Parts: sequence; structure tokens; C-alpha cells
Amino acid sequence: MGVVPQGGNTGLVAGSVPTRGDEVVLSLRRLNRAHCDEVSGTMFCQAGAILDDCNRVAKAHGLMMPIDLGSSGSCTIGGNLASNAGGVRVVRYGSLRANLVGLEVVLADGTVLDSLGTVRKDNTGYDLKQLFVGSEGTLGVITEAALAAPALPSSVHVALLTCNSYEQVVRTLEDARRELGEILSAAECWDEQCSRFVEEQFPDFAKFGPAGAKFSLLVETHGSNDGHDMEKMSRFVENRQGYLAMSQEQGDSMWAIRESITLALKQKKGVTYKFDVSLPVHLLEQATQAVKLALSEHRECQVLQYGHICEGGLHLNVWCPSGDEAIKQAAQDAIYGFCKENRGSISAEHGIGTQKIDPLVRYKQPEQLDVMRTLKTSLDPNNILNPGKVVAV
Ligand code: MLT
Ligand code: ZN
Repeated sequence: MGVVPQGGNTGLVAGSVPTRGDEVVLSLRRLNRAHCDEVSGTMFCQAGAILDDCNRVAKAHGLMMPIDLGSSGSCTIGGNLASNAGGVRVVRYGSLRANLVGLEVVLADGTVLDSLGTVRKDNTGYDLKQLFVGSEGTLGVITEAALAAPALPSSVHVALLTCNSYEQVVRTLEDARRELGEILSAAECWDEQCSRFVEEQFPDFAKFGPAGAKFSLLVETHGSNDGHDMEKMSRFVENRQGYLAMSQEQGDSMWAIRESITLALKQKKGVTYKFDVSLPVHLLEQATQAVKLALSEHRECQVLQYGHICEGGLHLNVWCPSGDEAIKQAAQDAIYGFCKENRGSISAEHGIGTQKIDPLVRYKQPEQLDVMRTLKTSLDPNNILNPGKVVAV
């Protein structure tokens, strides 16, 4: 018998899907309350609270949740934490881990570990709450979290630039870090194949920049002094190829292009193999080229690259007119092999679930896997918590 915790069911690696047939699905959806401690800037969110709902509560207090994802209308905080979801603003606000102040979690034997509170400093030994972040429900069931909530920015600016080479993307990113400094809140990059897919699936979307640019780079700022931020952004965009949004509507249209890439891939007839890796930023394009080389005989397939460039997050997608396991395997060997050679990660933000168990065994350092298995067997000796996920014991 096993227990499979489930929230919004928006994961991409089947972490919340039962596999054995003898499991009970534990829905956390009715644990959906969220409240705010304004003095400390802490949001208390039950596991089943939907991210957008938490944001509404935070906003009423002049705050925001420290994470933003495409699935914010249906993903839940418990799932976000259990999978250590990444999202588009890690460059500014840090990962969910970094914003976790406290956690309530139920262990396999029913023990409740409660570290919910508002204090940001606690050096009383091992930081146990962090064990459960990214554990995908295999070590305990998260029931509530306390998260640091940053101030809601009163000034938001978005620009969409185009670059003719990946080297230019990297140089522009370096400039963005230097010139925009503390107000830089997101930098998302995608290649021309992604733009073509979006154009094909959503022909009514606004177009920014010349057709055929090799890369698009969306840059966003969050700040509290609109005059200052606008001046910085205008100067940054000046002399580059691109547009600075002059209204929220224009900024939203720029974001819509980025956020529609996943949907465009889903909508297009055919099969898409998704890889979610991270690498040193300057190597993302080389990684894509390695996959293209591995698939050079399959001209019917297309390799698309997009992602969270500041953190070296690369969503590499291989679209094929029809499913072919050999193509999937060739792409996987190329991209994961490249990650191993270059000290990257084979799962930057989507987790392991059931889909990446084999690659995890193949590409993770065996000593690290041993420690993971030791933790699993010591906290869940009867293997009842989300069995068959992350580490197969
Ligand atoms: C994203 O950044 O859009 C998400 O992680 C989903 C995806 O991989 O497409
Ligand atoms: Zn992503």
C-alpha cells in the first residue's frame, strides 16, 4: 500500500501519478487557506492553496509570492515545494528553497514536524525542512509552508530584444546584470524555432522585432521608482535591436509569446520530447547543437531551445512528426551526456518523478544516490510515501 500526495497535478514528470495500482491518492486540495503576516512579510500557505490565490492574498498586503509559473492558476504550494518548482524570477527573488521560512510536514509514521514561524534565522542544527523541498512527497507530506514574500513592485518594465547570435545573447545578459543591477527581475531567451512555432499556432499574437532573428531575449525589471527604472531600461534598450513596452498591455503581449511556447508545442500535431536541464549559461547553445548533431539524420525533427537564461535553465524540446523511441534516446544521450561533462543538471526544475529515474541512476554521482536512498529508507522504512518516485528502493 502506498500514499500518493496530489495537488494541482501540473507536474511534468508524473510525480503525482500512482504507478503500482495499490496506492491511495491523498488530495491536498481542501487544505487551501493562505494568510499573511505583514510585519515579517511572511505568507502562510496550506499545501493545497493555488499559487494565484496566494498571490491575491499577498497583494492585498502589498506583497507577492516569491515564485511565478505558467501554471499559477492551478498549481498548488505543496506541489511547488515538493518539486522545488523554479519559474521565471529566480534571478531576482531566489528559489523556493531560498524563500522557505518554515514548514509543516507529516512523516510516514504520522509524526508531524512543525517549523512554521516567521523567524528567518534558525541555526539549531540540521535544516530539516529543506529535506522535503524537491523530495516529491517521498519523504513526507507537506501540509503548510511559511514563505518569505517580497514587496509588490510598483514599477514594472518589459523589453523584448533580438540577437543574431548566442554570443550576443550572453553579452546582452551580462550588460543587463550590470546596467539594470538590482531591478533586473527576469531574463528569458528563446530561439527562432520557438518563435516560428508560436507564430504558427497563435498567428494573432503581437509581433515585436524583425522576423528571422536567431534569438529573442525578454528582459523585465521590478522596482519602486518608476522614473529611475524607466530611465535605466530606456538606456539599456537604446542601441539594441528591440522594443521597450510602453504599456502593461504591451509588456503582457511580450510575456505571452514566451509563455505560449509550451502550449504551441503541445498543440502542434506530432510528438514532443521535453528535456529540462541546467548548464553554465555560455554553454546552452552548444548543448542544443550537440542534440542537433545527434539527430542530424532525422531532418523531419526540430530542436527548440528556450528557458531561464540567467540560471542556465534550458528547456530543450525535440519535436517529431510522430513518436520514435530511438530519436528520444539519441536526444537524451546527447543532452544528458553534455550535462554530465559540463557539471550541469539533468533536471533543472521539473524534478524526477517516474520519468527521470533511469537517467538519475545513470547520471547522478553514485555516492549522492546512496545518501538519498539512506534518507528514504530511514524516514520511510516501509516505502509507503509516493513509492516508485525519485529513488527506487
Ligand atoms: C516553462 O518554463 O515554460 C516551464 O518550465 C514549462 C516547460 O518546460 O515548457
Ligand atoms: Zn521553466
